[in-house]
Amino acid sequence: MGFCYFLWFLLFCMLLEGQIKGVSGLGVNWGTRLTHPVPPKIVVRLLKDNGFNKVKLFEADPGALQALGRSGIEVMLGIPNEFLASLASSVRVAEDWVAKNVSNYISKYGTNISYVAVGNEPFLKTYKDKFLQTTFPALKNVQAALIKAGLGRQVKVTVPLNADVYQTDTDLPSGGDFRSDIRTLMISMVKFLSDSGSALVINIYPFLSLYADPHFPKDYAFFNGNSTPIVDGSISYTNVFDANYDTLISALEKNGFASMPVIIGEVGWPTDGDINANIEYAKRFNQGLLDRIIKGQGTPKRRTPPDIYLFGLIDEDAKSVDPGNFERHWGIFYYDGTIKYALDLGNGRGLVAAKGVKYLAREWCVMSPQANLLDPNLTNSVNYACTYADCTSLGYGTSCGTLDARSNASYAFNMYYQTLDQRKDACKFNNLSTITKLDPSQGTCRFEIMIDLGTHQLPPSRSSSLAVGSNRNSLLLALLIGLITLITYV
Ligand SMILES: *[C@@H]1O[C@H](CO)[C@@H](O)[C@H](O)[C@H]1NC(C)=O
Ligand SMILES: *[C@@H]1O[C@H](CO)[C@@H](O)[C@H](O)[C@H]1NC(C)=O
Ligand SMILES: *[C@@H]1O[C@H](CO)[C@@H](O)[C@H](O)[C@H]1NC(C)=O
Ligand SMILES: *[C@@H]1O[C@H](CO)[C@@H](O)[C@H](O)[C@H]1NC(C)=O
Ligand SMILES: *[C@@H]1O[C@H](CO)[C@@H](O)[C@H](O)[C@H]1NC(C)=O
Repeated sequence: MGFCYFLWFLLFCMLLEGQIKGVSGLGVNWGTRLTHPVPPKIVVRLLKDNGFNKVKLFEADPGALQALGRSGIEVMLGIPNEFLASLASSVRVAEDWVAKNVSNYISKYGTNISYVAVGNEPFLKTYKDKFLQTTFPALKNVQAALIKAGLGRQVKVTVPLNADVYQTDTDLPSGGDFRSDIRTLMISMVKFLSDSGSALVINIYPFLSLYADPHFPKDYAFFNGNSTPIVDGSISYTNVFDANYDTLISALEKNGFASMPVIIGEVGWPTDGDINANIEYAKRFNQGLLDRIIKGQGTPKRRTPPDIYLFGLIDEDAKSVDPGNFERHWGIFYYDGTIKYALDLGNGRGLVAAKGVKYLAREWCVMSPQANLLDPNLTNSVNYACTYADCTSLGYGTSCGTLDARSNASYAFNMYYQTLDQRKDACKFNNLSTITKLDPSQGTCRFEIMIDLGTHQLPPSRSSSLAVGSNRNSLLLALLIGLITLITYV
């Protein structure tokens, strides 16, 4: 009898487990602009361990798409803006793209691609009119190509847009409408998405509201703040996310799309590179957001929460810093998949770190104790290091912002050394640097050790090491420069 109860108890536990496993509809953006990406298989395990059942990619990265095959994770596959013109030019180009980057992965690897996201924030005001003519035709051509490939039902098309495609003239969400210069285009595009059973994808960034305006009421950027509510008729708004989202809903209602499905393509908070980008704020924002999703809480105008893709999964050390140094620090996880801060994913379930990441040796390149701070070569050496490696954790209000000048130089030297896979000749800097086995990390400032990609393990050959070394060095540098200039998505 007791044994029987025990079995029922076990069954009950299993059912309960199935019920509470993961917040349903939680997605995340997997950006791949890294000098040393975590191997795709490890990333897919990371996604599953943390209950992310949807992922958004910014480009058809072969490694990511293969690793996502038969993972149970749904994929929204992005197309960078540079492709828009050619995709708009002919259906044939789109057919070729779909065959190589969609059909191929679905049939060969069983990758569950459910959306193709054509372009990324193409109507951003800062792009001026660059993608205005090509986005909609490209969207139509990609859809035509998907239908021709027999994927019309399985794979939907959409365009992730920045929140600046809509505005309000009254300063209140109820005054929402599409931006006047693209209003006609937006209405045609939304109609097309609606007719094809797709969704509108919008990126909303309360952090950027705060970053752009020093007078922005800080508490209004968060969900649990005590800011003065903004009263809009019978509704009181206590956070900018709700107000922004409902501005869009008003715009949709005003133009006859009251029930248009909306997906949040990107939302999150960075942890470094700016005074308001830190662990405390990121945790506050993301936990506030997750709590609402867990509770099933929407906004005043839409009671059910939209599907959300957090931005982002892992820090990207090769991402463009045009918008600001914070760009490389949006990850919930550090560059190597380690945890930055605790998050409750529901029912007390916390984050799980990446498993099986291999690192280079525990050694760092630092400023030599003999080197003089007044050495006229120091500034150039630091600048050189920071041109090729990521120094965005240095500067006012950052995690390494309080280092003294000597540690500052060490930080730069080390980032360069690690980025170049700890090559011995990457810690030279006119004799200003030396290698140490003592971790120079201090306070919030982490002196990283890079992921081992297995590229540094060429057989050491004494006689030819210099020549081979410098060749590889220039190749690596060229690659790096390529990566750094291959900037695009925001
Ligand atoms: C892909 O994901 C969607 C949403 O989770 C699901 O409905 C569908 O059955 C999946 N398709 C495949 C082939 O696994
Ligand atoms: C996608 O397909 C095109 C062929 O149309 C190819 O040139 C491109 O490299 C593929 N990969 C990506 C990332 O778009
Ligand atoms: C700076 O470094 C160069 C070698 O790259 C060296 O020739 C020069 O003497 C150095 N300058 C000083 C002031 O140490
Ligand atoms: C540290 O380096 C950063 C970036 O090069 C620079 O902005 C800052 O002034 C430096 N701080 C010190 C104390 O040298
Ligand atoms: C570095 O120091 C060594 C001796 O300590 C010297 O032989 C070499 O020329 C120096 N190199 C540079 C670039 O100053």
